[in-house]
Formats: sequence, C-alpha cells, structure tokens
Amino acid sequence: MRRIVTPEFKNLDEKIEKSLRPQRFSQYIGQKKTVDQLKIFIEAAKMRDEQLDHVLLYGPPGLGKTTLSHIIANEMNVSVKITSGPAIERPGDLAAILTNLKENDILFIDEIHRLNRSVEEILYPAMEDYAIDIIVGKGPGARSVRLDLSKFTLIGATTRAGNLSSPLRDRFGVLLKLDLYDVDSLKEIVLRSSDILDVSITENAAVEIARRSRGTPRIVNRILKRVRDYAQVFGEGDIAIENAQKALDMLEIDELGLDQVDKKLLTTIIENYNGGPVGLDALAASSGEEKTTIEDVYEPYLLQIGFLNRTPRGRVVTQKGYEHLGRTFMGNSNFDALE
Ligand SMILES: Nc1ncnc2c1ncn2[C@@H]1O[C@H](COP(=O)(O)OP(=O)(O)O)[C@@H](O)[C@H]1O
Ligand SMILES: [Mg+2]
Repeated sequence: MRRIVTPEFKNLDEKIEKSLRPQRFSQYIGQKKTVDQLKIFIEAAKMRDEQLDHVLLYGPPGLGKTTLSHIIANEMNVSVKITSGPAIERPGDLAAILTNLKENDILFIDEIHRLNRSVEEILYPAMEDYAIDIIVGKGPGARSVRLDLSKFTLIGATTRAGNLSSPLRDRFGVLLKLDLYDVDSLKEIVLRSSDILDVSITENAAVEIARRSRGTPRIVNRILKRVRDYAQVFGEGDIAIENAQKALDMLEIDELGLDQVDKKLLTTIIENYNGGPVGLDALAASSGEEKTTIEDVYEPYLLQIGFLNRTPRGRVVTQKGYEHLGRTFMGNSNFDALE
C-alpha cells in the first residue's frame, strides 16, 4: 500500500524536496533549541578558524536531519560530502572518502547506525586523531602505516541513537535530538512551501494541513503538493479550507493525520491482544509490519498524540486511542506505564 503519511523518504519526494529544502538557518523553521545550540558552536568554530565538533543528529525520519547537515555546511562555508551507512561496504571505501576531505570539510553519513563494524572501526582514529591506519604490503612484510587526515567534521544522522555502539557515540562532541514539530511550526512550513511553489493558501487551510501531517515537515510538503493538485482540478487553484479538507479526506488521512495503516496497527492490538500490553515481536508478527518500521515510523507519532503507551511489558492502546477509533475502552489489563 502506498502511504501518503509515511515520514520515510520515497523517490517521489526527491523532486519536491530539492526546491523546498531550506539552505540557511534563517529558512529553517522550528527546532529552536537545536538550532540555537548549533549556531553557537558554528560561530565559535568560525572565530577560532577551526573545524566544527563532530555532530550526531537523531530522531524520526522526515524531521530535517539531512537538511540541517546541508545548512551547517553552508553556514560554515565548507564543502559537504554525502554518503550513508549502507553505502559504505568496505573499510577501503571509507578510507578513500576520508583521505579526500579538505580542511574543515564536512562528511555526512546518513543512517550511521547501519555502518558495518569493520568500517566503523576506521572512524574511531579518524574522528579522534584525524588519522587512519592502513596496512601496506602483504604477508610477513605487511606493516601498518598511519596516514594523517585533514581536520574534518563528521555529521552522523540516525533514527535510532540507541543502536550506535558506545565507542562511536562517545566520539561525537555534539548530540542533538530532533523532535516532532508542533502545529504552529508546521503551519509556517506550509506557508513557506506554498510561497516557493507559488500557490496561494489561506491560513485555515495551512493549519488544516499542519494538523494532519504528524509533526513531520516531509509529510507537510507531500500533502501540500497533493492538495494543490486537487485545488487545481476541482477549484480555482487557490487552496482554501474546503479544498484542503476534501483532498485530505480523499487521501484517507483523518483529522489527526492517521491513515489505514495506523488504524490497523491499533486495531490489531485491540482485537488480538485486548488492547495490550503486547511485545514488539508479537505485534510485528501479527500486523505484518517490520519491527524497525513500527518503532521508527508509526510509533513516534502515536506516542506523541497519546494513543499508544510503552510499558515495561509492551505496547498498550490508551483510552484516547480507543475513543478515536470509536471503540469502548474497558481499561488495560496489567497496565504499568513507564512514567
Ligand atoms: N525545519 C524545517 N523547516 C522547513 N522545512 C523543513 C524543515 N525540516 C525539514 N524540512 C523539509 O522536510 C524535508 C525532509 O527533511 P530531511 O532533512 O530530508 O529529513 P530527514 O533527513 O530527517 O529524514 C526537507 O526537504 C525540507 O523541505
Ligand atoms: Mg535524511
């Protein structure tokens, strides 16, 4: 099933995101705490004429990690080399990338939790001492040679900081968590994107899209494009609240941004497990979804709006969740909330 509201990057996003991606802090909306911190670190590094500390950005997909890494490079006035954990297969591949970096350059590694161990080990001395050890020669004559690197900055992005090994995590000087956006920030993003796409939209309609975008800028932009298409075909091209609502209903995105997949997940817990608690493994098996997808993609928003709770014994659907689905809540059995 093609999900409109998935925060994961899909091919169709590439064209949309290129034009809409903020290039400077001044265009980056929300995440104030993170942005304020980064501005200070960048300012200080520039004053010392040094490279920025290594930065780890973590949080659910679609919240602006890749965007931020580009902005950091722009604000630092340096080049950025982009790669990802799964793309680097052998230690030699990473060594080649590292030796090509120039002073103060940024290396961005997306999905850094997916680096394999032998590749990851190259990063330790690279991050700490700006050097790598390479083996020269073969057999008994082989020896290890230390190669100095330019002083670079590593920016790692991950949806799951918990999956990073501690030697890797400990080598980042700056760890920043991105949170789901509030409706106000999302509304600003709708307005900014509409401006770039040259569509006129009312304030109400912008709020409507923001409310249904699950705290995620990527989803905002995707929905905005679909609503624009709808308004073009069925209206005058301007986006008013009626158009926005009709388009969103047609896309089967409900007033809180839930679609059939979310509802199925909640319903599975309610029908098969009496509302929970249910462990992640069992839930994955009975809903037919991947464990990592449940954790990274569905849960953050369902937790945020209070439809789901994580307890030591598993996931439970809350009273709010039941009511949203039009079901009667009889209380959760064995309910021990984590908090
Ligand atoms: N703070 C923001 N302000 C405006 N637009 C944003 C912001 N964060 C993300 N976006 C939009 O959302 C899209 C997805 O962001 P991206 O950085 O690719 O997310 P991530 O790397 O965390 O998955 C970007 O192309 C951009 O258009
Ligand atoms: Mg990204």
